[in-house]
Amino acid sequence: MCGIVGYTGASQAAPFLLDGLKTLEYRGYDSAGIEVLGGDGRLRGVKCAGRVSSLAERCAKADLRSTCGIAHTRWATHGAPNDRNAHPHLDCTGRVAIVHNGIIENFSELKDELVAAGHSFASDTDSEVIAHLIEDAMAGDAAGDILVALRLACARLEGSWAVVAMSADDPGRIACARKGSPLVLASTDGGAYAASDITALAGVTSRVIQLDNGQFASLDADGSVRVFTETGDEVSSPDFLDIDWDASAATLGGYPDFMAKEISEQPEAIERLLKGRLTDNGIELDELEISDEEIAAIDRIYVVACGTSYHVGLITRTLIESWAKIPVVVEPASEFNYEDVLVTDHTLCVIITQSGETADTLASARKMHEAGARVFAITNVLGSTAARESDGVLYIQAGPEVSVCSTKAYTAQMVAAVLLTLYLAHRNGSMATGEVSRRYRELTKLPDLIRTVLDRSWQDKAAAHEFEHAGSALFLGRGVNSTTAAEGALKLKEVSYLHAEAYPAGEMKHGPIALLEPGFPVVTIVPNDRVREKTISNIQEVIARGATCIAVATDGDEDVASLVERVLWIPPTPEYFVPIVAIVHLQMLARYVALARGCDVDKPRNLAKSVTVE
Ligand code: F6R
Repeated sequence: MCGIVGYTGASQAAPFLLDGLKTLEYRGYDSAGIEVLGGDGRLRGVKCAGRVSSLAERCAKADLRSTCGIAHTRWATHGAPNDRNAHPHLDCTGRVAIVHNGIIENFSELKDELVAAGHSFASDTDSEVIAHLIEDAMAGDAAGDILVALRLACARLEGSWAVVAMSADDPGRIACARKGSPLVLASTDGGAYAASDITALAGVTSRVIQLDNGQFASLDADGSVRVFTETGDEVSSPDFLDIDWDASAATLGGYPDFMAKEISEQPEAIERLLKGRLTDNGIELDELEISDEEIAAIDRIYVVACGTSYHVGLITRTLIESWAKIPVVVEPASEFNYEDVLVTDHTLCVIITQSGETADTLASARKMHEAGARVFAITNVLGSTAARESDGVLYIQAGPEVSVCSTKAYTAQMVAAVLLTLYLAHRNGSMATGEVSRRYRELTKLPDLIRTVLDRSWQDKAAAHEFEHAGSALFLGRGVNSTTAAEGALKLKEVSYLHAEAYPAGEMKHGPIALLEPGFPVVTIVPNDRVREKTISNIQEVIARGATCIAVATDGDEDVASLVERVLWIPPTPEYFVPIVAIVHLQMLARYVALARGCDVDKPRNLAKSVTVE
């Protein structure tokens, strides 16, 4: 939710700021803006509704020569996505500029107070109060020191924030604050940098400083970065993180869009994750730092996540209950945070989050920590808040996922969940070593099974025609594949804006069947599994109503092929792992439908990759 960048140093700021915004655009793309300190000692900037590309066009016509500046790409919370609500926001004097990611919950009281004191506001955002609070502090107790002024301003705020601020009265300096929303910094010979995440800094450094919640930082033109506590004491050894991601991993590399690239990267992501995980002692997950006795004592597991990651959680429950014989509760984090939980000394919470920054998921983890549970995170982003705040981290190592629509993180998270399940099952004695090895060997075949599906993308392209005149679609599946149906429907509506609903196939007759009419597309996942016959009966019910049935079926299943309009074929796959293979067809199908409808698959409207507000 919102991407922010800042730079001060010896080079021109605008090129880095615009490149940084392009990299962070997946975090929000309602509007964008940039503010720099001109040679005449005045702030000047450009901001507009729309994408970073529109901002870049306007910047090309503006004089933004400066070696110090801040910039922002927005996902609107308070105030419509228009020019006046775009960041950066200025104070009344035009000498303070801020960019903010997060929500200021008490902005309304603060705004009333500031207006009563004579401040005038130029936007409808919650963020603008920060600029005015800094204005007062600069003229008062902070005596022209932007870092002190930001600290005094933050002391008045409630909510969450990453703020980057600059002032014409403290030239060449950038002040940063963090509470709840992510912010990373870099100190280099060429200057000092701030950004919402490491992808924006991958081209300038391989080592970042991670600001902790409640910390502040000062970035100076000589490239130095100093970190301070809430009370103003300097932190002698801030948290460093070495980035081993290749900067080119976040570029298109010849693909038409990131969604296409990331779908195709799934086999390699899974290979990376599986490498070296099987030893003579079973699955190796030492990074979790939990003893066999502690595993054997686990009485209940809560799995908490949002969106696509929540779908991984649903399948995780089935796996853990079947193989590790531990009761599992799985909840969307946004609901979980308002529910009562039963926690004992032996309760485990597993959060699943690609970004590691989803506010609801982090709040769930904190709630479980407070209740005394051990918390493990399955995440992609190195050094993310989820990783830092958890007792154990299993990185999925999928590399940067840029497309807002999650694809490779979904399948990698699922494989991570299988590894975790095998680990727990083996260590608590529910699964024998031989069985663990057999399941692991099955896992190692997944990359090739997915490659086979990727080679069949023409089937998805052809099936996309069935959605040309549709206003809605239904996705059906049974068992673990009712979750595949849910994830397939989410992909379709997210990138194509076509309404889609998922249902357990057997439940269709209890309501959704009323939707069916000739031409209505119904996607049914019907692999060669224990419920195949039952699912075929549901296909018959669909066909009897004249609806158009598209089936995901196992190679050679002529019974299914003879019934339906289109088949998306998957190679024979062990039953529990079908969701990891079948979803690849549904990802490609959603993409083709979206492209046919003229949608931007990487940046669907209203969405942001990292949802840092509750
Ligand atoms: C859908 C999608 C979202 C995310 C959700 C959670 O394609 O990407 O539903 O899965 O916002 O995000 P993370 O996994 O980063 O916590």
